[in-house]
Amino acid sequence: MASIYIETFGCQMNEADSRYIADRALAAGYEIATDAARASVVVLNTCTVRDNAERRAYGRMGHFKALKVANPALKLVVCGCLAEQDRDRMQAAVPHLDAVFGTSELVRLGDALAAWRAGFGDDADEAIEERALLRPLGTAADCITDAFTHLRAFVTVQRGCSYYCTFCIVPHVRGRFDHRPMREILAEAHGAIATGARELTLVGQTVNAYKDPASGADFSDLLEAVSGLAGLERLTFVTSHPKDFTEKLARTLGTLPHLNPRLHLPVQSGSNPVLRRMNRKYTVEEYLEKVAGFRAHCPDWMLTTDAIVGFPGETEDDFVRTLDLFERVRFGQAFMFIYSQRRGTPAALWEQIPEATGSERLQRLADVVNRGMRILHEAKIGTLVRALVQGPSRKDPSKIAAKTTDNVTLIVADPGLPQAALVANPWLEIRVEHAFVWGGTGTLTGIADRYDASAQPVAAPVYDLIAAS
Ligand code: SAM
Ligand code: F3S
Repeated sequence: MASIYIETFGCQMNEADSRYIADRALAAGYEIATDAARASVVVLNTCTVRDNAERRAYGRMGHFKALKVANPALKLVVCGCLAEQDRDRMQAAVPHLDAVFGTSELVRLGDALAAWRAGFGDDADEAIEERALLRPLGTAADCITDAFTHLRAFVTVQRGCSYYCTFCIVPHVRGRFDHRPMREILAEAHGAIATGARELTLVGQTVNAYKDPASGADFSDLLEAVSGLAGLERLTFVTSHPKDFTEKLARTLGTLPHLNPRLHLPVQSGSNPVLRRMNRKYTVEEYLEKVAGFRAHCPDWMLTTDAIVGFPGETEDDFVRTLDLFERVRFGQAFMFIYSQRRGTPAALWEQIPEATGSERLQRLADVVNRGMRILHEAKIGTLVRALVQGPSRKDPSKIAAKTTDNVTLIVADPGLPQAALVANPWLEIRVEHAFVWGGTGTLTGIADRYDASAQPVAAPVYDLIAAS
């Protein structure tokens, strides 16, 4: 039986693209493999936003060579941003690749999968039997990795980005904004709900710049329309650009009941000269004004952000301003990066900051962020929260991981229920007992089939995680 293994690097856009590839593969008659060594097709969906993502992708391509040697019939495919940027170099440097598809060639990739399908035969094997167990639990189309994947669906609202931040490769590899028609987005969201998604995430590099090509409807209008879909449980979105964060959007966020209480609003730096050189199109003061407007309408929401340290020309004084901003605005989470030179972007040509300075600044910023995160998580101790199950904890598969609607990871003891029961009742009610920088642990007190349904006590004994460990 033909099977496909998909490995995804990078942002939510790549995650959404991988789901598209999985859907096309399933439609063409493949199974989803959870082990590359047993797959007929291996797809590596790459990222090039930072140098380490690029190096890891090349590392994986090297690693997959052994699979190709062991099984010459295997098709090894690379797609995503690195494929778009580096196609020629990649094909020369990694001759065992069967195909390379750029970011605008997903449909062609799907067509190639369909064309290869007949060549793989139909013999069942042990791996397929294992995977067959997963299928009845979720819709097959969403089982990229496991039975819980389909509970969260990503719907792309726009491709590309037209903002050309001077550090960023995205507009160069994904092109300018290409907003999808609203009716297509609504149809896809409706389909995802119908096949079991409990949380929809609208994805795009700058979702709040969205404009429906036909009607000119904006992102607030889109949120309202998606919120009106029958059966929707929770809705969220990433990423928003501060420049396009309007009063209208803040008001909309405060009024729609299905929205998860979290906003990701990348600030990048707390220094105006740095923001100007980054071409971010807002000042620190404007960012703070937007945050104040947001908090006026959404007082209990979690605010998260991205930051880059060691950007060319960043002085100690610039960096201290970033630290100050992070002390003032308590972010629920921050993705922090040392600036990474990207070929073809303006900032790559400017005088660079020493690597050691970047690492030292990253550590200082992380200390501030971690302190703030722990405090926010401590505030949950003693409360009962709803969290959507993610599946067995990666660190300790005997425990269950879940995410609250404001995106905090919680770990509880496995109640010993059949997997199908958890998939059908994926909303966990958890009493939070311990807080850490990364999230918290607690006791599972019940499970519910819908976000707004009351929780039923779990039949199996419930263990206190800390006592049990
Ligand atoms: N569209 C989003 C926005 O408006 O900020 C960000 C998209 S980008 C793919 C995700 C994050 O990666 C950015 O917010 C930035 O912090 C980081 N990033 C992008 N290019 C980078 C670079 N060259 N070096 C370090 N971090 C980078
Ligand atoms: Fe990149 Fe800036 Fe767009 S970070 S994705 S160019 S908003």
